[in-house]
Amino acid sequence: MASLIPVSEIPTASLLYKLNRLTPVSNPINHPSQAFNDVVSLIRSDITKLQVDCIVNAANKSLLGGGGVDGAIHRAAGPDLVKECRKLGGCKTGDAKITDAYNLPCKRVIHTVGPVYHSEDRPEHLLRSCYRRSLELAVENKMKSIAFSGISTGVYGYPGADAAHAVLDEVRKFLEANEGGVLERVIFCNFARQDEEFYEGAIPKFFPPTDQDIHGQRSEAQPKSDGESSPSPEILAAKLPDPPTADPALHDQPEAKKQKVNVEDLGQSISSRAEDKSEDDWEQVDKSEGGHIEGLDDEPVKVERAPSAADVQSVQSSGIIDMDESQTGENFLLKDW
Ligand code: AR6
Repeated sequence: MASLIPVSEIPTASLLYKLNRLTPVSNPINHPSQAFNDVVSLIRSDITKLQVDCIVNAANKSLLGGGGVDGAIHRAAGPDLVKECRKLGGCKTGDAKITDAYNLPCKRVIHTVGPVYHSEDRPEHLLRSCYRRSLELAVENKMKSIAFSGISTGVYGYPGADAAHAVLDEVRKFLEANEGGVLERVIFCNFARQDEEFYEGAIPKFFPPTDQDIHGQRSEAQPKSDGESSPSPEILAAKLPDPPTADPALHDQPEAKKQKVNVEDLGQSISSRAEDKSEDDWEQVDKSEGGHIEGLDDEPVKVERAPSAADVQSVQSSGIIDMDESQTGENFLLKDW
């Protein structure tokens, strides 16, 4: 089992610039802010391993569990999470609700419902709303650190690069409006390397580096106030957690839901599931006691694009299908820094 990752080991944008893991762009959209670059953070990990104040789940409108990251969070939290979720009466697309975290290493879980990309007229508006509402809930509940999964970028089909741009713009606006607020860390947690690359490409546009980020003034020239030097970027780099090397969600999957599929059939598999099944059919979590919520869990999921590596992972981690090792897209899970 992958070990837990404390918030202190999750790299900020500022550290990632120092390590040359983020590259400045010539035409950033916003001005550099050291305060924001010490808040915005990026990690490739199973979100259920993060010891942060709260994590954000990519849920569906029933809030009663599902596949992908939703399934992973419910499995790791244990059955009490769905019991609490049953009392919430579902959630509208673009909105968010908060629960306890039970067996998870974080303190709370924020559940937000992202747009199904090809079914919504204004998917960007709704995606931005998911992040804004989650940040508002985090602040209202005095959370200091919040880690987002890639809302809607799995089976809901939102293109990853577009999502990263909209999300970073919305988070920047939120931080500007709430400067000096309680949030010390806003973490973007991706599982697939490709999704992380979208954030690596977009963060320098919305959160460009400061002189200190680029030249490392504080670590090289300025001792900290207690007289000690800050650790060098190399020492900090050595402390960074390893990215995942295996799908975290395949342990303790319900065997009955798994089927062998050929990866070439995956597009067909996703589309036909989308056409034939409602979100209800995705349940991982028992919702027998009052699980149906009228009007909330009957929306068909339409995915009209070719499956990405993220889809492969997301669908695979749902436990609905299983693949041979040679077909798991392991290349995007291998350590690459
Ligand atoms: N940790 C971090 N990220 C993960 C993990 C994990 N353990 N597992 C998957 N991801 P998805 P959506 C990434 O499909 O598109 C559920 O059935 C994954 O690679 O989980 O919002 C719900 O119940 C992808 O980038 O969420 C809904 O019905 C991202 O998480 C529906 O899926 C989101 O993928 C929501 O679809």
